[in-house]
Amino acid sequence: MDNLDPNLNKMDNEIEESLRPSCLNQYIGQDVIKKQLQVYISAALKRKESLDHVLLYGPPGLGKTTLAMIIANELHVNIKITSGPAIEKSGDLVALLNDLDPGDVLFIDEIHRLPKSIEEILYSAMEDFFVDIIIGQGSEAHSVHLPLPPFTLIGATTRVGLLSSPLRDRFGIIEHMNFYNSYDLDEIIKRSAKILQVQINSEGSKELALRSRGTPRIANRLLKRVRDFAEISEKKEIDEDIVKSSLHLLNIDNLGLDELDIKILKTIIYDYSGGPVGLSTLASSIGEEKDTISDVYEPYLMQIGMLKRTTRGRVATKKAYDHFNLSHE
Ligand code: ADE
Repeated sequence: MDNLDPNLNKMDNEIEESLRPSCLNQYIGQDVIKKQLQVYISAALKRKESLDHVLLYGPPGLGKTTLAMIIANELHVNIKITSGPAIEKSGDLVALLNDLDPGDVLFIDEIHRLPKSIEEILYSAMEDFFVDIIIGQGSEAHSVHLPLPPFTLIGATTRVGLLSSPLRDRFGIIEHMNFYNSYDLDEIIKRSAKILQVQINSEGSKELALRSRGTPRIANRLLKRVRDFAEISEKKEIDEDIVKSSLHLLNIDNLGLDELDIKILKTIIYDYSGGPVGLSTLASSIGEEKDTISDVYEPYLMQIGMLKRTTRGRVATKKAYDHFNLSHE
């Protein structure tokens, strides 16, 4: 799932579940996507047909899984949730498909990580609702045609470029999720605070919104951490001061950059004279996985204009130098 983050413990996961909106009108932000989905869902309901397959792509933590659950809820159907790496054998996928009721949603997170041989099973399943499975081995082997109920596949990925075109072309609805603006994050934080019964004033919530890297999952996680600091400070509500002092202790700076963001930028600046430096070189300098840097960290650093990806490698921009009060010649 979208939220398989090793840093989230079980408790955090349970809280994250409790904060998920369950229908489109509770979902804050991503207004264009919401409007489009509303139309497609209403039309499918009216025609009594399954919704076209949906591909959601964008950086982690923006609510792809939440949106998939909402779509199923709005369609009044069940959702089965799995992920690319969890499907190891073709039989795993066939079993999932065979178990669907008409109109159900199958959600595959990290769909770019599906093995190629399994991805190919999806082609006929998505296009014509059947799979041909091979039963037996050697001279005994024969193909069995298995019809499937009409269903909606919702795929989610942080790396749309890694999807093969036959797979991508089979999604009728493709939505790009973008980082949230601070106004929407502020609304999300206020909504979450209400659910968690945490008092936060408007300055506190605005400050937290500005430091959440455009990402609801981070906003909600920081809200929980700041709540801990507020509890021991004996203040009745979270205010701007508590947000600032607790995020300082969490090593999160005034733009919401964390230790790894800062390490990425400073390594490029100090060790590679501002770049360009290749991703592999950068990853080994920092001691971090390439995918974590490129999928989790870089999208936001690019969004705020501190990092550029060029054909020759990663470059720290003047804005990054300015952020650290360094001169950029
Ligand atoms: N919690 C996490 N993401 C949310 C969103 N987009 N709207 C409302 N609550 C959320």
